[in-house]
Amino acid sequence: MDIGVFIPIGNNGWLISKNSPQYKPTFDLNKEIVLKAEHYGLDFALSMIKLRGFGGETEFWDYNLESFTLMAGLAAVTSKIQLYATAATLVLPPAVMARMAATIDSISHGRFGVNLVTGWQRPEYSQMGMWPGDEFFGNRYEYLEEYITVVKELWETGKSDFKGEHFYMDDCRMLPKPAGKIPLICAGQSAAGMGFSAKHADYNFCFGKGLNTPTAFAPTAERLIEAAKKEQRTVTSAVLIMIIADETDDKAMAKWEHYKAGKDQAALDWMSQQGAADKKSGKDTNVRDMTDPTSAVNLNMGTLVGSYASVAAMLDEIDSVPGCEGVLLTFDDFIVGMDDFGNKIQPLMKSRQHLFNASGAA
Ligand SMILES: Cc1cc2nc3c(=O)[nH]c(=O)nc-3n(C[C@H](O)[C@H](O)[C@H](O)COP(=O)(O)O)c2cc1C
Repeated sequence: MDIGVFIPIGNNGWLISKNSPQYKPTFDLNKEIVLKAEHYGLDFALSMIKLRGFGGETEFWDYNLESFTLMAGLAAVTSKIQLYATAATLVLPPAVMARMAATIDSISHGRFGVNLVTGWQRPEYSQMGMWPGDEFFGNRYEYLEEYITVVKELWETGKSDFKGEHFYMDDCRMLPKPAGKIPLICAGQSAAGMGFSAKHADYNFCFGKGLNTPTAFAPTAERLIEAAKKEQRTVTSAVLIMIIADETDDKAMAKWEHYKAGKDQAALDWMSQQGAADKKSGKDTNVRDMTDPTSAVNLNMGTLVGSYASVAAMLDEIDSVPGCEGVLLTFDDFIVGMDDFGNKIQPLMKSRQHLFNASGAA
C-alpha cells in the first residue's frame, strides 16, 4: 500500500480550530515535511490549490501558497518521492498547465504528476472574475473532459487543434513534451467526478469517513471499481486520512477533543455556505456536507485517533479494502506527525514491511 502526505500549503493544515497548532505555510516548512517523507520512504506528496480561505478567528486557509510553483521548488530539493501539484483548471489555460507540468517533469526527472480539480467554492474564482456562472456546478466535469483532452494532445503530440465548447485551439504548440507519461489524479466523488476519474485518471482520491472507522470508505472505492469497469480501465482509490497519535489511546483522544472544543465556528459556517451554493451536483460529496458535527473541524476527513500501535493497526485495515492502493495522510502537527509516523507507526505496519525487508531504506 502506498503512503503519501497532503502537505500544508495552507495555514493550519486541515484543522479549523483555535486549539490546534497555528502556523503559516512556507516553502521551508513544506520542504522539511517532504524531506522527512522521503527519508521515511513515503511514496508521494500532494499539494492542493486553494485561492480563497474561510476567514474566522483563525483566518483559516486565508494564507495559501500556489501549488505548481511550490512543487517545482520541492522537485529541485528531493530525489525519490513522487510529487503532485493541483491544477485549478478554471484559471490555468490547458496549454499553460501542460507546459508548467512538462517543466516540473524536467526538474524532477519524471517524478511529477497532476491533480485535476474543477473547483467547488465559487468565491475562489468569482473574486477574480473567473467564475463562469452557477451552471458550472452542473457541467464542470464536461469542462474538465475538454481540458484534459487538450492537455493530453499537447503532451503526446506537441500540438492541439481541439475545438470544443469551452476550449478552442488554433494550431497550438507545446514543446518539449514530457519525457515520460505524467500521471493524473483526481478526487471525484460525484457520479460525474468518478466517471471522469474512471476515464482519465490513474488514481482517484476519496475522503475517509468517520472516527476510527478506517474501512468505512469501502463503498466509495467500490463505486470507482464499477465506474472503471465501464471504461475497461484500472483506476485505484487512495483515501484521505488524518492521524492524531500519541503514546496512549487516551492521550491521543484528549488532543482530538481539545481540537474539537476549539472549533472556529465562523470559518466552519463560511465553508458550509460555500458548499450549499452548489444546488446542481447533489449532496453526494462530503466535502460539502458539514452537517455531521463529529468531524466538521477537520473538513469531515476520516480520522484515526489513538496510540501509535492502534493507528498502525487501523492503517493496515485500509490495505484490505478492494480497489484501494494508497493512503494520503494529514497530521495535526506535520513535523511531529511525520517523525512519529516514520519512527513509531510505520515500522509496526504489516503493509509497509517491504521498506524494512528491502535494504533497510526506512
Ligand atoms: C485528496 C483531495 C484533494 C483535493 N484537492 C482539491 C484542491 O486542491 N482544490 C479544490 O478546489 N478541490 C480539491 N478537492 C475537491 C475535489 O476536487 C472534488 O471536487 C471533491 O472531492 C468533490 O467531488 P466532486 O467534484 O465529484 O463533487 C480535493 C479532494 C480530495 C479528496
